Amino acid sequence: MTTAKRREIDVLLSEERTFDPPPGFRDRAHVVGEQPYLTAADNREGYWESWARELHWFQPWERVLDWQPPFARWFVGGKLNAAYNCLDRHLAAGRAEKRALVWEGEPGDVRTYTYRELHAEVSRFANALKGLGVMKGDRVAIYLPMIPEAAIAMLACARIGAPHSVVFGGFSPQSLRDRIEDASTKVLITADGGYRRGGIVPLKANADAAVDGVDIVEHVVVVRRHPDGEVLGGATMGERDHWYHELVAEADAECPAEPMDSEDLLYILYTYGTTGKPKGIVHTTGGYMTQVLATTRWVFDLRDEDIYWCTADVGWVTGHSYIVYGPLADGATQLMYEGAPDWPDRGRFWTLCEKYGVTILYTAPTAIRAFMKWGAEWPAKHDLSSLRLLGTVGEPINPEAWMWYREKIGGDRCPIVDTWWQTETGAIMITPLPGAIATKPGSATLPFPGTDATILDSEGNEAESGLLAITSPWPAMLRGIYGDEERYRTTYWSKWEGAYFTGDAARRDEDGYYWISGRVDDVLNVAGHRIGTAEVESALVTHPVVAEAAVVGRQDELKGQAIAAFVSVVDGAPVSEDLVKELRDHVAKEIGAIAKPADVIFTADLPKTRSGKIMRRLLRDIAEGRALGDTTTLADPAVVEQLKKQYEGSEG
Ligand code: WT7
Repeated sequence: MTTAKRREIDVLLSEERTFDPPPGFRDRAHVVGEQPYLTAADNREGYWESWARELHWFQPWERVLDWQPPFARWFVGGKLNAAYNCLDRHLAAGRAEKRALVWEGEPGDVRTYTYRELHAEVSRFANALKGLGVMKGDRVAIYLPMIPEAAIAMLACARIGAPHSVVFGGFSPQSLRDRIEDASTKVLITADGGYRRGGIVPLKANADAAVDGVDIVEHVVVVRRHPDGEVLGGATMGERDHWYHELVAEADAECPAEPMDSEDLLYILYTYGTTGKPKGIVHTTGGYMTQVLATTRWVFDLRDEDIYWCTADVGWVTGHSYIVYGPLADGATQLMYEGAPDWPDRGRFWTLCEKYGVTILYTAPTAIRAFMKWGAEWPAKHDLSSLRLLGTVGEPINPEAWMWYREKIGGDRCPIVDTWWQTETGAIMITPLPGAIATKPGSATLPFPGTDATILDSEGNEAESGLLAITSPWPAMLRGIYGDEERYRTTYWSKWEGAYFTGDAARRDEDGYYWISGRVDDVLNVAGHRIGTAEVESALVTHPVVAEAAVVGRQDELKGQAIAAFVSVVDGAPVSEDLVKELRDHVAKEIGAIAKPADVIFTADLPKTRSGKIMRRLLRDIAEGRALGDTTTLADPAVVEQLKKQYEGSEG
């Protein structure tokens, strides 16, 4: 039986299995019944307005929503500041001495910030940025490891109204440069290095390579990662470089928060699409803050005494919405961890959960599958009884992993929230509310109150299975693609009239529950990270021996999908196992290690249709071993030719 078939059966069986919210959990939960769903359906704008009122506004809005498809403006005319809402509001509400961030570095160093301390540090750094000439509206790039300064830098930007563009620390210098150029960022914030699996990621050296000759970057701020001031990763300082600690030491701890228009840019975050270069997803302030606050409180059932831990990196949207803006807006205490889950051993996450008494854990299916592979003996060594809620995000979770998570991590007592959303949606869209909605392993269940989803076929008719669509504007929705209005329209709003195209396939069962099966476009999801096939292809063809490349995703037990690259080389170039390694490393160098192909398959020709379209389905079959019976790195050109003929025949 194929993996796909097995999964299908697994899903069908799991549909029979439902888990009601545990009574003990329900008794204390924020939401226990269907009322919010009804209230929101009855008056969607009024419902979101009541959430917006939870925030602090310098000036109230005049209108809740202005919807000129596909452009939405939420809380029109209102003024607020995201950092003010994450910090100052809590000082006034008696939370000054509450811990905001408890951070542990991979080597085991610990730092804690109360809301008062975080407020002061953010204000100092905000003043330092102003001192470097950063003004409201200027873009700032952030390329940092998972250290408190990542959150501090984001909030400092928000405080002064400078939109940030966070670039994941695993991206290559070239990827960083592309993003810096696209958004014309004036300042870059990085660190000398960060710890990963005992080694050091040389961020400053990468940053130097990225901005070499890039004049738009006027200043580079460098955080010294090491607690004792040792310089990591061989970082050297040049003329436009400044040490973070020197800047903040001189800066004032009072910095008024800039009143921002509800629709002012909060941040740009790049993600991959189907073609060309990565797109800068644009998020604004009022609606975004409203929905991240609402979803953080209700989806995670967040309470004042919780210790919340989201294991994502701030380089992804999950880190933006559910490490920085959501939890801090709701005054949470959260754990932040710098390093790898298997360092110094495979029990690191469970050591952390036990040590800090984590009550809410939010992680990715790919991590759960790795934990399964490493064995239940690792979590079993620890007391995980503090946990009361588990969450997942990033890709479909297979029911087997869901059940393992429930049993081995959640001790059979914690509800699981499988949360579907995207960089573009900004906040969680489809999810259970843990005290109200019964869960089924593998289903993200129902749209969050106040959001409207459906399933459509290509013609726009409602269907039981088809494409997942969002049918009304939501507060945290993307406002566009930075600098490319046309691409925004065509990518998301041209498939159907008035409905947002998610790129995901889904099915709805008899209870109305959504089962999201994955992307239908040429976007891969590798270990919960989104990669565009086009980017990997472009990276491959920059290698001198590559004539043409086609990239597809194949199923992978651990990562969900793995990258398979079909490559034809220039005439006469010898192919070898060494070249396989060289090409994999080349992609890692061009984009980052997350984009490294698992397989490189040489082929004389890429199979194409008569109109010149690459036959990706055929390539996927080959990569998954269905066609060749076995996955080999060297596909016989004759075989590919033969298969191509068969496919053309079968498809008419
Ligand atoms: C794509 C978005 C959302 C933050 C992390 C990823 C897939 C995400 C789920 C889920 C099934 C999921 C979709 C989506 N996805 N969460 N719970 N169940 N699929 O953000 O990089 O923008 O990727 O991730 O395919 O379109 P992203």
